[in-house]
Amino acid sequence: MKRFRHLRKDQKTRDAVAETKLFAKDFIYPYFIVEGKNIKNKIKNFKNVYHFSIDTVIDDLQKTKELGITKILLFGISKKYELIEEAIKKIKNKFPKICIITDVCLCTYLEHGHCGVVNKKGEILNDETLPKLAEIALRHARAGADIVAPSDMMDGRVEYIRNKLNKNNSKKVKIMSYAAKYASHFYGPFRNAAKSAPVFGDRKTYQMDFRNTDQALDEIKTDINEGADIVMVKPAHTYLDIVYRAKHKFPKIKIAAYHVSGEYVSLENYEQLVEVTTAIKRAGADWIISYGAKELIKNELI
Ligand code: PBG
Repeated sequence: MKRFRHLRKDQKTRDAVAETKLFAKDFIYPYFIVEGKNIKNKIKNFKNVYHFSIDTVIDDLQKTKELGITKILLFGISKKYELIEEAIKKIKNKFPKICIITDVCLCTYLEHGHCGVVNKKGEILNDETLPKLAEIALRHARAGADIVAPSDMMDGRVEYIRNKLNKNNSKKVKIMSYAAKYASHFYGPFRNAAKSAPVFGDRKTYQMDFRNTDQALDEIKTDINEGADIVMVKPAHTYLDIVYRAKHKFPKIKIAAYHVSGEYVSLENYEQLVEVTTAIKRAGADWIISYGAKELIKNELI
């Protein structure tokens, strides 16, 4: 008889033989930054996620850093470019070792909430959007972002952004592309938090159809060829097969996986979150974006 239970005997043994373990450094922690001062407001239907003003985000980052988290993803909730730029500068100045990743998209800046330029017919225009994305990326880079993360899903944007950064003295800034990003119904709490829901139509003409796998691998390959340093699969929990296939097909590139807002709020407790995020890592993700990263560490679940 093979005695599998030997190695499950007690916690010490189980820990000793565990194949997958999560570390604080695996996580990217997202922040929503708003205008104003002394703001730390709970976001409705989004457990333990807040709107922060720049001053309070700096305070919070001290704790985040102490927990061992080294990477953050910033979303500026403002129609003005300057808010996020100021946030980047101040964070960089106070915490030079923290890796600052910024979401690059048009949806929070434009009234219609789409990720690209829209014409009179309501079509989302690909090529017209590219210079705008590149401008935003360069602004973030100049403010001090370490990694820019285009989340718009326009074709050709990685190459366009890479060229713009290279031509403007920002060669060292890396690109993490939302490469396989699906048109998902799991983005609800985020869109409420970021005030970025489209006022008409949906995102299905640019984000991927969730019935497809091969195309995700094509999207990832294209982004790598265009110069992406890290590629992302999003959502993560419902798309573990994509994470798995991406890692196996492109073992040399870092794969990030975004455990998105709707997936996060559907969980009942942090024990479930640790199981899910472990599954995401087990499937092949190198970096996991998680709204619960801090709680996992605080509660000593990882
Ligand atoms: C913006 C963006 C979205 C998310 C990250 N960047 C929303 C969307 O594409 O509609 C979703 C993140 C989440 O749900 O946690 N383009």
